[in-house]
Amino acid sequence: MLIKKEKIYEGKAKILYKTNDPDLLIQYFKDDATAFNAKKKGTIVNKGVMNNKMSSFIFTFLEKNGVKTHFKEHLNDREMVVRALSIIPVEVVVRNRVAGSLAKRLAMEEGTVLKQPILEFFYKSDPLDDPMISETAPVAFGWTTQAQIDHVKKEVWKINTLLTEFFNERGIDLIDYKLEFGKDSQGQLFLADEISPDGCRLWEKGTGEKLDKDRFRRDLGKIEESYEKVSKLICGS
Ligand code: TMP
Ligand code: ASP
Repeated sequence: MLIKKEKIYEGKAKILYKTNDPDLLIQYFKDDATAFNAKKKGTIVNKGVMNNKMSSFIFTFLEKNGVKTHFKEHLNDREMVVRALSIIPVEVVVRNRVAGSLAKRLAMEEGTVLKQPILEFFYKSDPLDDPMISETAPVAFGWTTQAQIDHVKKEVWKINTLLTEFFNERGIDLIDYKLEFGKDSQGQLFLADEISPDGCRLWEKGTGEKLDKDRFRRDLGKIEESYEKVSKLICGS
């Protein structure tokens, strides 16, 4: 039986606990919401439960389609069992349409359709506000090997095709999202973190209504309702 041990990491939205199995951790989902590198703080009621459920569903879907993820099992409302990994300190952002920081940086209209997806890398660092980095930086800094970064890129395109179709079938346009990857002790790569409206831009097809954390970032209201809507569309409840 898996036994929960001490906390090893607390982030802005999740906590990681050790277990009696050195290869497994418990990932706990909080209701805390932050934006702009925690300059804005709040709570989204029941977000932890919804994000745990949605992430579990999506990781299961990706695993079934040949993507290696850290997900092992949905343990209870707010916890999932995940592989113990060393997280690469890079936020991999995939964009299918112009939005958010890209729209701002290039003064482009949000929603502009791209001829092909854009891949961007950011250094995971709160004190530095997650600055953008070159795709050659992770190898240069010794965070990954070239083979690992090539593998990440290949996985990302596969994940994007799968997720775009997954959300399409559920009446949602996947505008952009952030992924994180981790390595096990053998250097094998796995998709980590979570996949939820916290780290994705999700627009309802037809209406274009924002159903993700931009409702919190931009004070658009109906935050909980939007997360619930996505949860129903993804998991049926
Ligand atoms: P951006 O447009 O602000 O760069 O965000 C791109 C996507 O990445 C968007 O879906 C939100 C997600 N994201 C995170 O999950 N965490 C972050 O810290 C940031 C900045 C973005
Ligand atoms: N996750 C980041 C923060 O906590 C930024 C964001 O999602 O907008 O501040």
